[in-house]
This record gives sequence, C-alpha cells and structure tokens, in this order.
Amino acid sequence: MAALAVKSYAKINLGIEVIRRRDDGFHELATVLQTVSLYDEIAVAPGPTLTLRCDRKGMSGESNLVWRTADLLQKESGTQQGAVIDLMKTIPISAGLGGGSSDAAAALRSLNDLWGLGLLESRLVEIASQLGSDVPFFLRGGTALATGRGELLEPLPTPDGQWLVLVSPDIRLPGKTPALYGRLGPDDFTDGSETTKLADALRGGGTLPEECMVNAFERVADDAFPGLERHRDAMLKAGAERVHLSGSGPSLFTLVRSKSAGDALRLRLGGLGYHGVVVQTVTAEENN
Ligand code: C5P
Repeated sequence: MAALAVKSYAKINLGIEVIRRRDDGFHELATVLQTVSLYDEIAVAPGPTLTLRCDRKGMSGESNLVWRTADLLQKESGTQQGAVIDLMKTIPISAGLGGGSSDAAAALRSLNDLWGLGLLESRLVEIASQLGSDVPFFLRGGTALATGRGELLEPLPTPDGQWLVLVSPDIRLPGKTPALYGRLGPDDFTDGSETTKLADALRGGGTLPEECMVNAFERVADDAFPGLERHRDAMLKAGAERVHLSGSGPSLFTLVRSKSAGDALRLRLGGLGYHGVVVQTVTAEENN
C-alpha cells in the first residue's frame, strides 16, 4: 500500500478561560479552539514494527507523542501490524499551537485506516483523550467550544475565511504547559462567561467579538517568557490592532481583514526584525 499523507493543522485558542484547579491536577477550562492553515505532514506506511522518522533533529523515536500514539493504538486494538511513520514538522514546537497534539490525532486517524481497524470516531476520541487534553479536538478540527480539561467538545460554525498573522517567539521553556498552569493564581480564574459569549457570537455567524477573546495566561505569560512583550510591541508597531496570546503561549496572533492586509503586516514585521506567518481559519470539512 502506498503511504497515506495527511496534513495536521495547528490551532489557536480564540479565547481561553481557566475556571478552577481540579482535584486530579488538571484545570477546568472554557476555550474556543480553531484550526488554522499552518500544518505538519504525516505519512504512514506498513512496517514490521513501529518506526518514527522526523525531519526535526531530536524528534524521532519513542519519546515523540506520535510514536506513543501508535503504540497506544496497537495496544488498544490488539493489532500485530507495525508502521513506518514520517513526520514533517512546520508548526513551531511547544508554542501554544497544539502541533504535537495535532500530529497525534492525525496519526490516530491514519493508522486506523492503514491497519484497517475500523474504530469509530467515539472510540478514537477515547484513545485521543488518553494522549492529551486537546488531542480529541484535532480529530475533527475546525472550530469548537471545549470544556472540562479540554476534551468535552461542542462544534461551532467556523469564522470562515478569517485571516490572521501569527508570531511564534522562539522562547523555549522546559515543561512549558504544566509550568504555565502552575503559575496561575485565583486572580487568573474566571467563570467562563466571556467564552460563552464568544461561542454564542460564532453560533450567530457574526464577526469575531474581540472583546470576548480573553486568555487566562496573559498575566503570567509576560513573566514566564522573557522577550514576549517585545514581540507584542512589534506587532502593534507594525499595525496590529489587537494582539492575542494562543493557549499558554508564547505564540501571538492578530486578526486581519484580508490576505493582503496580512501580507502587509508580515512585511512590516520583517522590517522590524520579526517573523510573522499569514494564515487562515480551517474548517472541519477542510481538516478531514
Ligand atoms: O493534557 P496535556 O497532556 O496536554 O496536559 C499537560 C499538562 O498541562 C497537564 O499535566 C497539566 O499540568 C496541565 N493541564 C491542566 N489543565 C488542563 C490541561 C492541561 O492543568 N485542562
């Protein structure tokens, strides 16, 4: 069988509120997730055992979430089949863009097909939630309201054709996600009502209400990521109207009216020495 290659899209959080810390160590969330047109690629082919090859140094092998996904799917399904998995990375790593989770979801769907397992969506969602809180979202992609620890999903209409400029500062933080959750205090917790308003607006098909696009990590991110503020200032100086943090950061994004407005902003950012990427929202249909 020829290798099946699929795109695994990055996400942004249009808004993310953290409601409270739970007894299981996770946090209760209300977030609107959105896939965007920046993607990794995954190709799977039959193989005697499990092999993961990645074009990014240090990301091949058993520590990668994609390898752990394949291993878990083998165990859960009881299949004896193996696979050679090729992962081509473009999405910045540990950046608040969900790249690793998206790759895991793409690997689950591809291996389900390659191995002819015929697992239903509901079963894939169960397996995905063992791999990470936002892996279930990426099985469908598009736009969704996520609650619980991020795994309870309600699909929403996509703000179709919305252009954005992403800036992903290259600021590495070991154990980034738990570290950022760990920095949150009671002052950062909110009741989820802004995210409810955001979801309502999307259901109504209107434009994105930027005043409801809040992010619980905004306060702690500037301390956690040295230099983040500089990137935000550069985006504003280049003409961004509002700058939003994605997930627990450090990626930043701004909404723009058109592709040409995005390209112009990207060029001005380049002139200031910063790298921007122009992307568009991706619907669930485009993701599948
Ligand atoms: O589920 P995931 O593997 O992405 O979570 C990584 C870490 O992020 C968790 O171990 C936890 O520390 C933190 N987290 C959290 N609440 C969530 C999601 C993640 O505290 N809803």
